[in-house]
Amino acid sequence: MMAFTHIPVLLDECMDALNIQPGGLYMDATAGLGGHSAQILANGGKVLCVDRDPQAIAKLHERFANHPHATIIHGNFFDCKRILHGLGISSLNGILADLGVSSLQLDDPSRGFSLHKDAPLDMRMGNIGQTAADAVNTLDERLLVDILTRFADEPYARRIARAIVTARASAPVTTTLALANIVRDAVPAAARRDKHPARRTFQALRIYINGELDRLPAALDDMFDCLAPGGRFACISFHSLEDRIVKQAFARQCQGCTCPPDFPKCVCGKTPRGRKLGKPRTPGQEELAVNPRSRSAKLRAIEKLDTPEAGKDESVVKIAF
Ligand SMILES: C[S@@+](CC[C@H](N)C(=O)[O-])C[C@H]1O[C@@H](n2cnc3c(N)ncnc32)[C@H](O)[C@@H]1O
Ligand SMILES: [Zn+2]
Repeated sequence: MMAFTHIPVLLDECMDALNIQPGGLYMDATAGLGGHSAQILANGGKVLCVDRDPQAIAKLHERFANHPHATIIHGNFFDCKRILHGLGISSLNGILADLGVSSLQLDDPSRGFSLHKDAPLDMRMGNIGQTAADAVNTLDERLLVDILTRFADEPYARRIARAIVTARASAPVTTTLALANIVRDAVPAAARRDKHPARRTFQALRIYINGELDRLPAALDDMFDCLAPGGRFACISFHSLEDRIVKQAFARQCQGCTCPPDFPKCVCGKTPRGRKLGKPRTPGQEELAVNPRSRSAKLRAIEKLDTPEAGKDESVVKIAF
């Protein structure tokens, strides 16, 4: 049995942003090892702990066994409306999404997320869908280039994709170290000096096979719909692609009228549904010293305004929890 150490990222800042109300109902959409959920409970909130990873769900059951205010749900936050509908819940006082992979996933070599530990090339956060090995061994070279470019801005995408296709013609690429070595040998010598040159390839493959970015914009809109008036949504991202999607999603909710500026009057009828809560927060020196993994974290938060339309989303049922 491996021991996992885990420090929740931007914990105080998240609690501050969510403004936990005793008895309020919150969704921790990426509950992981339950670090943030535990703090929501400690502040008197009730929490729905959602995670797509069955291993995380098992840990959450252990951690919150018999806790009267924790409900553990194996699911994907892309389906948040369906999840709430299934539970007969009308709306939430707050939602937290701490995106990306957990230390449980990164530190367990058998999951195949780490390029430093040899393991089957899996990288699935859940237990369904294609693995990274499936992708690496079957995808068209052009699609590999596209994935490496889109999801990691990989400058050597073409060389790496070509090297993968050449290698798999002799034997399938099935392990993390095999892939890491192919990438290392494919990039110019100068690119091998700093961090491991396969870092971006691993990030891109992980994002691709878990569909992390494709459905995120719609999921962020759906989660915002699920908030009660005055409800808060806090979201932590870990890289610029993710952060851009969060920033744009929150801006959409705060925007209001989208008519061209030269229209004499508004014809779209849109009014702002939310307001941004301060500037994005990043870890301070103290947090970085104890948790270097928090270094790329960025927290954005938004509050749902109490407009006539707020809380009238037909796709979420109206039953008090
Ligand atoms: C950064 S960790 C969260 C850590 C957690 N806040 C804690 O303190 O323990 C991200 C977690 O989100 C889960 N996850 C990522 N995308 C998800 C999605 N679309 N739906 C549900 N869970 C997701 C991952 O499986 C992982 O356990
Ligand atoms: Zn307008």
